[in-house]
Amino acid sequence: MPAQRRAAVPDFLYGTAWKEDRTQDLTELALRMGFRGIDTANQRRHYVEAAVGQGLAAGFRAGLATRADLFLQTKFTYQRGQDHRLPYDPAADLSTQVAQSMQSSLEHLGTDYVDSYVLHGPASGYGWTDDDAEAWAAMVRERDAGRTRSLGVSNVSLRHLAQMAASGAEAPAFVQNRCFASLGWDRAVRAFCAERKIVYQGFSLLTANPEVLSHPRIAAMATRYKATPAQMVFRFAQLVGMLPLTGTSDPEHMTQDLASRELSLSADEVRAIESLVA
Ligand SMILES: NC(=O)c1ccc[n+]([C@@H]2O[C@H](COP(=O)([O-])OP(=O)(O)OC[C@H]3O[C@@H](n4cnc5c(N)ncnc54)[C@H](OP(=O)(O)O)[C@@H]3O)[C@@H](O)[C@H]2O)c1
Repeated sequence: MPAQRRAAVPDFLYGTAWKEDRTQDLTELALRMGFRGIDTANQRRHYVEAAVGQGLAAGFRAGLATRADLFLQTKFTYQRGQDHRLPYDPAADLSTQVAQSMQSSLEHLGTDYVDSYVLHGPASGYGWTDDDAEAWAAMVRERDAGRTRSLGVSNVSLRHLAQMAASGAEAPAFVQNRCFASLGWDRAVRAFCAERKIVYQGFSLLTANPEVLSHPRIAAMATRYKATPAQMVFRFAQLVGMLPLTGTSDPEHMTQDLASRELSLSADEVRAIESLVA
């Protein structure tokens, strides 16, 4: 694929989960407010991927961005993570399900390629299984066919990643995980990613960490920077090398989340936030 069709990885992703009938409008609003990275999934239980596509189309019509400006990420979700609204034939083998899910995602999003295609979660919480190997090989074929620029895995432990690597599987370009401050903000997985130049995407940075948002040290720093605790957390995440996600439905929070990129926290402040509740 020509290099000019490859969008740079943005420094913030807008997440489209749990928006239901507001999905189209909020996706368009996110483009209007300046987001250029959009995260979704072909998992109707939590996302309305077709409405994300309608929001993108509305944004293109309004001249907010072009497809080439955007980083679009979607996911393949195993049947056990879905409800009855499946984007593939449940009787088909996993390789076929991946191909069908990808085809359906491209139709939903109104594009002929995505920038990142993510395995939503491994088949087992305990390790990298044969099912994961089959799904991942099918995803690699989608990438080789040009339907995605890159690949990722989500909801993985260090054990999953180590076993995946030991199996000889191609390394992901992205890892997307829920990030708990009490676990050192997923320190072990982040270190694994940093060593291999895998981009770590952090979600639930706010919702998983209420004790950080209400911590007096965060409040003091936020006051000093004339910022909010949420902005401190997002900026901290970027400064330790994460690509943060936000799924805010509030235009003011969209502005604040993007504006957090301008905060210049000191190395000491970053270290302090990293170990605040660990
Ligand atoms: N791979 C996976 O399994 C997985 C799982 C979960 C999520 N995700 C992805 O990650 C995205 C984000 O999900 P999330 O779990 O991080 O949570 P979220 O659904 O984005 O929730 C963010 C919460 O933080 C609030 N918020 C955002 N910016 C704020 C600000 N500046 N000030 C105050 N509050 C603010 C939002 O409230 P307001 O709406 O009022 O701003 C909302 O309550 C999802 O949409 C999805 O794309 C992926």
